[in-house]
Amino acid sequence: MRILGIETSCDDTGIAIYDDQYGLVANQLYSQAKLHAKYGGIVPELAARNHVHRTIPLIQAALRESAIFPKQIDAIAYTAGPGLIGALIVGASIACALAFAWNIPSIPIHHLEGHLFSPMLEENPPKFPFVALLISGGHTQLFQVTNIGKYNLLGESIDDAVGEAFDKTAKLLGLDYPGGAILSLLAKKGRAGRFNFPRPMTDRPGLNFSFSGLKTFAAITISQNQLNDQMRADIARAFEDAVIDTLIIKSMRALKETGLKRLVIAGGVSANFALRKRMRKKIEDYNGEMFCARPNFCTDNGAMIAYVGMVHFKRGMVNSKSSALSINVKPRWPLTALSIV
Ligand code: KG4
Ligand code: ZN
Repeated sequence: MRILGIETSCDDTGIAIYDDQYGLVANQLYSQAKLHAKYGGIVPELAARNHVHRTIPLIQAALRESAIFPKQIDAIAYTAGPGLIGALIVGASIACALAFAWNIPSIPIHHLEGHLFSPMLEENPPKFPFVALLISGGHTQLFQVTNIGKYNLLGESIDDAVGEAFDKTAKLLGLDYPGGAILSLLAKKGRAGRFNFPRPMTDRPGLNFSFSGLKTFAAITISQNQLNDQMRADIARAFEDAVIDTLIIKSMRALKETGLKRLVIAGGVSANFALRKRMRKKIEDYNGEMFCARPNFCTDNGAMIAYVGMVHFKRGMVNSKSSALSINVKPRWPLTALSIV
C-alpha cells in the first residue's frame, strides 16, 4: 500500500510517498524561506501562491524518485489544518482533485499529529504510551499520548510559541527569518553565563509555558549593551540556555506526573542540537528514553503526513470519492479535537 502525502500548511511544500512495506520511498521539499526573508516573516498570500507553483511539480518529482505510477497510489493524505488558510486550501484542493481523478480516497491530516509521529519514521520508533513535547513555530504543548487518537493536553504556552520566541529574538539580534536555526548557530559561539535570562513559570506548579517575556528580556538586554559580535553570540546563548532549561524542567515534570519514562520531542524546534543533546542526557539520567526525528523531519515535511495518512488509511479514516470534492480546511484546530474517547 502506498500513500502520497502533501504538506502545505505554512511556508514549506512537502511531498512524500510512504509504502507500508518499504517505508519512505520519496521525499521532496521546497522551502519558501528565501521568499519571505526580506519581509522578516511569512506573507500568507505569497505562501499560498508559491504552493500553487510548487505542489504539482514536486508530486511529479516524487513519482519519478520512487518510480511509482499514479495508479499504484492507494490514497492521498494532505494537511487539513492548522495553518494558513490560503496555503492549506492549495494543498487540500490539489489532493482532493487528484484523488477524485485517480479514483482513490483523500485523507485530511492534522499537522500536529504529523509532527507528533515524525519519530515513527526513524529506526527506533517510540512505543505507546509516551509524553510528547510539541515545539514549533505556532505551538508549544505537552501531551500524554496513550495511542493514535488518544491525546491528553498536559500544558501549553499561554502566549508565544517557543519557535516564535526564537524567531522574534533572532530578529532583535538582526538575524534573517526564520531565525531559530541561525540563532542556535550563533549561540554556539556565545559564552555561557555572560547573561542570565529568566526560566519562565518554572518556579510555580503546572505544565504551562510562557515565552513572550524572554523576547522582552532580550530586547532590554540588547538596548542596555553596546552590541558587537561576541555580545550578540552571548545573548543568543543566554536565550537558548533559558529556553532549553525551561523545556527540560517542564518535560521532566510531565514525566514524573504521568509516571511515564518515554519522551518524544517533535516540531521545528526539536531540530535544535543543543536541546536534543541536553534533553537526552537528562532523560537518560532518569532511566528514560528520548525520541526525535532526524532534523529535516522535525521541521515541516511531507513524510510525516504520508506516514500518518497510512495509519489513518489502515484504520479506514478516509474521505470517500463522493466527499473528496468537498474541500474542508481548518486553520484553527486543536489536536485534542481528534481524541477518540
Ligand atoms: O514545525 P515547523 O517547521 O513549522 C511550524 O509548524 O511552525 O517549525 C518552525 C519553527 C520556526 O520557528 C523555526 O525558527 C524553528 O522551528 N526552528 C528552530 C530550529 N530549526 C527550526 N528553532 C531552534 N533551533 C533550531 N535548530
Ligand atoms: Zn509544523
